[in-house]
This record gives sequence, structure tokens and C-alpha cells, in this order.
Amino acid sequence: MREISLQWMKSGKWRWLKSLKEKSLRIFLKVSISEMMRFGKAARDICNTNVFEHGGKIYAITENHSPYEIDPSTLNTLNKWSVNGAWDRPFTSHPKKVPSTGELVMMGCHIFKPYFLLGVISADGKQMLHKVDLKFKSSANIIHDVGVTKNYNIILDYPQKFGIERPILGKRFIEFDQNAKSRIGVMPRFGDEESILWFNVKNHCTYHLINCFEDEDKVIVRGCKLLDTIITTPDDKIERSEWYRRAYIQHDESSQDYDPSKDGVLISRPYEWRLNLKTHGVEEGYLIENGVAMDFPVINNRFTGIKNKYSYTQVADSIASSTIGMFKYKMFAKLYFDEHDKENNGNIKVEYHVMEDNHFCSGIEFVKKQDAIDEDDGWVVCYVHDENKNQSKVHIIDAKNFSKEPVAKLKLPQRVPYGYHGIYLYK
Ligand SMILES: [Fe+2]
Repeated sequence: MREISLQWMKSGKWRWLKSLKEKSLRIFLKVSISEMMRFGKAARDICNTNVFEHGGKIYAITENHSPYEIDPSTLNTLNKWSVNGAWDRPFTSHPKKVPSTGELVMMGCHIFKPYFLLGVISADGKQMLHKVDLKFKSSANIIHDVGVTKNYNIILDYPQKFGIERPILGKRFIEFDQNAKSRIGVMPRFGDEESILWFNVKNHCTYHLINCFEDEDKVIVRGCKLLDTIITTPDDKIERSEWYRRAYIQHDESSQDYDPSKDGVLISRPYEWRLNLKTHGVEEGYLIENGVAMDFPVINNRFTGIKNKYSYTQVADSIASSTIGMFKYKMFAKLYFDEHDKENNGNIKVEYHVMEDNHFCSGIEFVKKQDAIDEDDGWVVCYVHDENKNQSKVHIIDAKNFSKEPVAKLKLPQRVPYGYHGIYLYK
């Protein structure tokens, strides 16, 4: 870097660029500039990760851009959402509604100070009720989710690093630091940075929380835990097929070539952190056995922030995922948090819904019945693509008869690509 800086000082911008090696220059131009733009003000209009409703409006969202309102009847893009000018940065992809009040809690990062803000938006979406600088030391972490309980905001902080300078230094643009530390913050809803109670936890890279809730002196945080980032960029200096082959498939930990930094690191599994607010102690561990990867957890949203009994996830096809280098999901799982199997190390009960071969799903959502009584009175709704017939459908599964055939399969007129998250809204 010193040499580069000197070249810059002596000869100006173009000389500096020429001084870079050809490959570095290519990486710089293709990754740094374009991706730098993604995280700056001149961001591209990509909001392709999640869709959420707040205050009667629908928004598309991703980490590196402000949410865009969309017209649900035409899917036309409307305006950027700035909460009446009070918010000028991206949201985390999974903002959460506070139980009982309906307020919306989200975080947002920026490449300049203040790096991370947490915001609380009124239930009608018109007013920013609270905005606080979390005083992170850098913007170099990508955090995908934020949690709520009745009284607290739950802040994940894990070392999934990004940086515009990284490709120049020969590093991946986005990388999870397996030797760094993770922590979880518990902040009173309208508290400030000083009021956050931080808990040091085992290092992890958790994209999706399942739910958070209070249990006497404890806050329970559940999520699908990974041990590395799933995000790669085109110029990552990794042998992709080999990396994915090792990352997505469970390996024999007693074998000689087992490498915990590579093998099985993308096998995402439900995990629980029990944070004691009085003793500051942490109990943590996986909730299901090893070897089954699942993610994209959804719950009955009426239970967001309060104790829930069930969650529904997409189960990965590790072989297919490792072959193409991205997650493919071949079936669904229903998690029973209150039912434990003593003969299976106390893991929670899991029920599976299996699809036919070469069928893969995305965009899982739980839709509660309008006259629901029980938490699982509702349907699991998901896009499913049949790769044999190149036919996309929507499958509707009765959550109380989860392993049975779907109650309906709706043919779609065109292919729906595998993607990220879905939403179901009553008209
Ligand atoms: Fe997500």
C-alpha cells in the first residue's frame, strides 16, 4: 500500500492505476468500483433480497440500498422510503415488528460514520421514533437481521467483513473472519449505545434469526447458524467447486484431511443462545443433530418477539448445492421447540415434508388462518420448481398435517427462479 500511495503522490491517478498489476486492476475495476457503488450513495437499484409490509405499504429491500416501495398490484417500483426524510441509508434485510405496538425496528450500515444506526419507526410508518448510533468501530460488517422481544432490540455483531480496499490487498471483497469474535447485544427499545448489554458468544455467521423472546431473567435468541459467509463475488480467489464441495457437505471429523475451517462450514442449523441479563452468562448450542442443513426460517408472525413453539424452514440439498455452488432446497422442516427427543441428545423434534426428486423450493412463508386458534393453524406456502418439466408451482401445505401432501399446488404461467424471501399478504 505504501508503494501505491507513493505512486499516487508522484504521478496522479492514472499512473497509480497503471502501477497495479493487470489482474489487480481488473479486480479493482470490476469489483471495487461496482461494489463500492453498491454501498455508497450512488447505489444501484437492486432490492432483491426480501419483501416486507409496514404501515400498509410494501417494500423491497436489501442490505446495500434504501428500501423501495412497490405497488403490489403491478409490481411497479415506486419511491425510496426515507421515513419522511429521517433515514438516508440501507436497512438490514429483515426489520422486525415489535409485539403489541407494531413499531418497526431495523438497523442500517454506511461506509462513513456513523457506521451502524438502529431505528424504531412508528406503526403507521410515518415517523422515526428513535435513531441511535451503535458506535461500531467500522462499517466493515454485513449484518442481515435484527431481532426484537417485548422490551428489547437484539443486535447481532459478527465478523462478516467487507471493504472496498480488500480486493486491492488480494483479499476477498466479502469474507468471514473465523478468528475474530462475535457478540449479541440486548438494548432496551429506546435505549442508546451505553445501555446495550453485550454478550460474547462463539464465533458464527448467522444470517437469519428464527425468533427472540424474554424468559424471566433471560433473553432467548434462536437463529440458523453458519460458520462462514455464503456471499461470494465473481473475483473471489477461491476454487469455487472445491470450496463449495467441502463447505456444503458434512465430513467425518475423525478423518485425516478434515479441516474445520472448510468442511461443513455452510451447513446451517437451528441454534439457541440463552442470554442471562442478571449474570451476563451465555448458554448456547445447536437444536438439531448435525448433517442436516436448513435455513430461511419463518414463524407465525403473531409470535414475533414472544415465545413460540414452531418454526418452518427450507432444507438444503447438500449435493445439488455443492455441484452448482449455491444453495438449493429440496424439502421443508417443521421445528417443535417444546418437544425434545431424549434419545437423540435432547435435540428438538423435527418433522419433514419431502418433495419429489428434482423439485426445489424458495420463498417459504407461513400464512396463519384468519380464524386461527393454535400457533400452527395455517399454511406453509412456497414456490417450487420442477426441474424435470421446467414447471413452477406454488405449494400450499397444511402446517398441522405437515408431512402430508400439499393441500393445493398452483401452476404458474412462467418459471420462478430460485431466490431469496417471499411474503404473503391478504388483500
Ligand atoms: Fe435473508
